[in-house]
Amino acid sequence: MSKKTLKIGMLGFGSMGKTHTFVINNLPFFYPSLDFSAEIAGVCTTTMEKSRRVCDEYGIKIATTNEDELINSPDIDIIDVCTPNILHFDTIMKALDAGKHIYCEKPLCITYEQAKIAADKAREKGVTCGVVFHNRHMAPLTRAKQLIGEGRLGRILSFHAVYYHSSCADPAKKAGWKQNKDICGGGVLFDLGSHVLDTVTYLCGDIESVMGMEQIAYPTRLGMNGEMWQTNADEAFYMLCRLPEGGCGTVIASKVHTGTNDDLAIEVYGERGALKYSLMDPNWLYFYDNTTPDTPIGGERGFTRIECVGRYEAPGGVFPSPKAPAGWLRAHVTSYMKFLSAVHLGEKFSPDFEDGATVQRIMEAAYRSAELGRFVDVGDVR
Ligand SMILES: NC(=O)c1ccc[n+]([C@@H]2O[C@H](COP(=O)([O-])OP(=O)(O)OC[C@H]3O[C@@H](n4cnc5c(N)ncnc54)[C@H](O)[C@@H]3O)[C@@H](O)[C@H]2O)c1
Repeated sequence: MSKKTLKIGMLGFGSMGKTHTFVINNLPFFYPSLDFSAEIAGVCTTTMEKSRRVCDEYGIKIATTNEDELINSPDIDIIDVCTPNILHFDTIMKALDAGKHIYCEKPLCITYEQAKIAADKAREKGVTCGVVFHNRHMAPLTRAKQLIGEGRLGRILSFHAVYYHSSCADPAKKAGWKQNKDICGGGVLFDLGSHVLDTVTYLCGDIESVMGMEQIAYPTRLGMNGEMWQTNADEAFYMLCRLPEGGCGTVIASKVHTGTNDDLAIEVYGERGALKYSLMDPNWLYFYDNTTPDTPIGGERGFTRIECVGRYEAPGGVFPSPKAPAGWLRAHVTSYMKFLSAVHLGEKFSPDFEDGATVQRIMEAAYRSAELGRFVDVGDVR
């Protein structure tokens, strides 16, 4: 029996449209035994030139600047929303009316009222809808959720969660749409805070009450049109939070934390144990089991660094190998690309056969040394 192909209409093709397309196009490598396949059937961007270029580059059939063409197409099953935040709600409503499944980038909408209408309508329609809070699917956070579910932390007493970027720490950085409340709908709280709040609620459950404080570090900076622009959206946001069972915590979302790059980090402290994770250290989950004996001299008490690396739940974690650390596959992409570029330009590639021979010579000297039981000069291997 042939596999059903789920056809996707991609709305927006900036950083996330491209990311989702990469995922769809490469899904069979990571999940070879799925009994369905998926393809991007059409792309909608703001200009026909860009939509056509994207279709040519990625082998997509329909190019359009009218999202209704994809939303109302009987050949499309899923609408993938990768447009700026203020556009999400209207698109979602139309896609639900057309009976489509929806995969929507975060934040879902720009008000709770909109989000609630969207969630209610999605339930009524019986379609499948998802928000791209992909951090949940980082292996260490999936493992953290399991440990909390097994009661290994006990009642949660405290948590500290941050999502730090450094991009707005530079006063010379131009404001993009994510720094403009009129397009983003909010500031960094929407852009990064939505991710870290999902991480907190995923691990710690509902938040009962919050106290917030916003920060604009630079009241003016260059705008998208190159002219001075009045900053209208928070560049950092600080929160105190209370959990229903008395746990308390802090959440910070910020783009003014110099030196942080892309750091979503969370610490959760419970009666029986604690957890720590950072996106900048994505191979590991740190787990402290407060029930292990601390004698003699500390026993084996202390944070365990759990090797999550590429261990994904079945049916994933087959390719790349479960032991492949984050970044392993990416280095292969760069290696092959540099080789192909060298062939294309008629240039040398590095590492070349000379580099291969250097390593070969050392290995041969090592084998020889093991056999002889003494040091062997690498230069003596000829
Ligand atoms: N999950 C994540 O890791 C992550 C990361 C970045 C952004 N996002 C979210 O993804 C969404 C898109 O962000 P991005 O970084 O890709 O933005 P982007 O600016 O890189 O791309 C936005 C795209 O939308 C297109 N667009 C704008 N108006 C449109 C319209 N009316 N119809 C169709 N296309 C239109 C633009 O041409 C562009 O191609 C946002 O909601 C953002 O919050 C999520």
